[in-house]
Amino acid sequence: MSIGFPGRHNFPRMIRSDPHPARLVPNPRLDRASAYPDALKPILSLAAEEEARREIASWTGYAPTPLRGLPALARELGLATISFKEEQHRFGLRSFKALGGAYAVKKLAAAPGGPPAAVCCATDGNHGRSVAWGAREAGLRCVIYIHEGVSEGRAQAIRGFGAEVRRVPGNYDDSVRIAAADAAREGWTVVSDTSWEGYQDIPRDVMQGYGVMVGEAIAQGGGEASPPTHVFVQGGVGGIAAATVAHLWERFGAARPRVVVVEPDKADCLTRSAEAGRVVHLSGDLDTIMAGLSCGEPSPLAWAVLDPGADAFMAIADASIAPAMRLLAADGVVGGESGVAGLAALLVAAGDAAMRAALGLDASSRVLLFGTEGATDPALYEELVGESAERVMERVAA
Ligand SMILES: Cc1ncc(COP(=O)(O)O)c(C=O)c1O
Repeated sequence: MSIGFPGRHNFPRMIRSDPHPARLVPNPRLDRASAYPDALKPILSLAAEEEARREIASWTGYAPTPLRGLPALARELGLATISFKEEQHRFGLRSFKALGGAYAVKKLAAAPGGPPAAVCCATDGNHGRSVAWGAREAGLRCVIYIHEGVSEGRAQAIRGFGAEVRRVPGNYDDSVRIAAADAAREGWTVVSDTSWEGYQDIPRDVMQGYGVMVGEAIAQGGGEASPPTHVFVQGGVGGIAAATVAHLWERFGAARPRVVVVEPDKADCLTRSAEAGRVVHLSGDLDTIMAGLSCGEPSPLAWAVLDPGADAFMAIADASIAPAMRLLAADGVVGGESGVAGLAALLVAAGDAAMRAALGLDASSRVLLFGTEGATDPALYEELVGESAERVMERVAA
């Protein structure tokens, strides 16, 4: 079943511009009844997440990012609560990706066989920043590959961590292949956030690091006594969504929150894979304002978890992003273009009777949103919101 949304907007504070179409695809292969399968535990598990948590909590500057309630919006949308996890504050890197790439680099640096000569990866911005930061901390050489669509602001931020940045032709998936080929030639180690055949250990560590954010959010929301009923989480290659599903499934079993995976409609490889019942690859420039979600090929490791475990997939329009960023900014909360996709999807779904029914959204729903990035490209943030992230945060502090 796929529900096409013509659009409606009847929330006073919300989006007053033209309606933004979105597509909701409930997962036809969802397994809600079983316990978390043993077969998935080598990919993601609470035990491995705890190992990641202990390591990451020992890093200088570690603190759980804030979980912000949005009570006025919850009232307007006819929901019980909405919580927004603010990754703007993650280690000064401004995205949840600080947890994944840097964790994998730290593990490599401490490997019994000794550290690699250099680490490299492809990125649309945030993963590369994390790998570069981890490499600098570990004293490793680092080369980061960016595709044509990555903004210069994001490239500069990566250079700021001492990495060499190489801009290459094509889209994100092309840059993944170029990084892997160069690494094979040079003897470097690829620290990728996506997996492929024969390359799984490092992306598994990356995903396991992301799980730390999920554990923090559940603890901050009141722990096992009051878990969310719904989670909207962004999907690029599927890593953070898989970490979310795995954590909630292993911990809460059949009683777990419903997880909706949200993608740009211009790079909706996970949604299309759910519809097709097999992994679908997209090509082209996949150009979307949600730069961090501009991926055309699901990570096979992530897909193994999402295929049976995600409740639904949603593909949303670029036009829904700036209004969602401004809506948060009005409450003093900073969310970047990719970070607000879950909120943008919730705004659409909560306003549509068919989608509300399909997702079971009602006055008792407690919705958790992962604001996976803040102003990772400050100039673009200011252009879209009309004020800088610093000004937005000052309003809260005042
Ligand atoms: C801000 C942000 N949110 C979400 C994602 C999606 O993560 P994944 O590629 O693991 O699905 C990314 C990926 O780069 C990102 O940068």
